[in-house]
Amino acid sequence: MSEEKSRVSEGPELKNPVSIQLSSLAETLRFGRWLGEVARPGDVICLDGDLGAGKTTLTQAIAQGLEVPPDCYVTSPSFSILHEYPGRIPLYHMDFYRLSDGWEVLDLGFDEYFHDEGLCVIEWSLRAQEIIPSSRLHLQMTIESPDSRQYICDPGTSSWAERLASFLG
Ligand SMILES: Nc1ncnc2c1ncn2[C@@H]1O[C@H](COP(=O)(O)OP(=O)(O)OP(=O)(O)O)[C@@H](O)[C@H]1O
Ligand SMILES: [Mg+2]
Repeated sequence: MSEEKSRVSEGPELKNPVSIQLSSLAETLRFGRWLGEVARPGDVICLDGDLGAGKTTLTQAIAQGLEVPPDCYVTSPSFSILHEYPGRIPLYHMDFYRLSDGWEVLDLGFDEYFHDEGLCVIEWSLRAQEIIPSSRLHLQMTIESPDSRQYICDPGTSSWAERLASFLG
């Protein structure tokens, strides 16, 4: 019985948040490329953290992992809210920095992209958290030093929990 409990409590199906330490820009880029490689149609990845935490930088690496062509330079869509890039699956890059809630996203119909065949990556997602699907992978970034970051990764699905567990080995 206790063995069974221990097996269950360690299982990724519990979707517990995990902490990832990224000690250099190169480590962040490696993690981002991996996210792009394992992303599936309909996935949503939310990025929150201070200015300069590396949300756009991570998205650029995710784009590489998704095989977005190198001549499609990924920049933050602060004013248009959404940029779309072609890749193995489409990348929908959103930035909610200047929003105070999700009304504008719903008004523009951009919430439809959450259930599309591509990957949504959303910077400053907490500005409009009420409209984000609970199945998202949420990454909360903290700047620990100029070159190192801590991510608290909260998987909304057992699928994300399993994928994160495979990254962490
Ligand atoms: N380990 C690291 N991970 C991510 N970025 C890093 C790291 N080390 C240094 N950096 C640098 O930090 C900066 C992050 O800037 P970036 O524009 O990606 O942040 P952001 O979170 O998108 O900011 P904003 O809130 O303004 O959108 C880049 O210049 C990047 O090179
Ligand atoms: Mg940014």
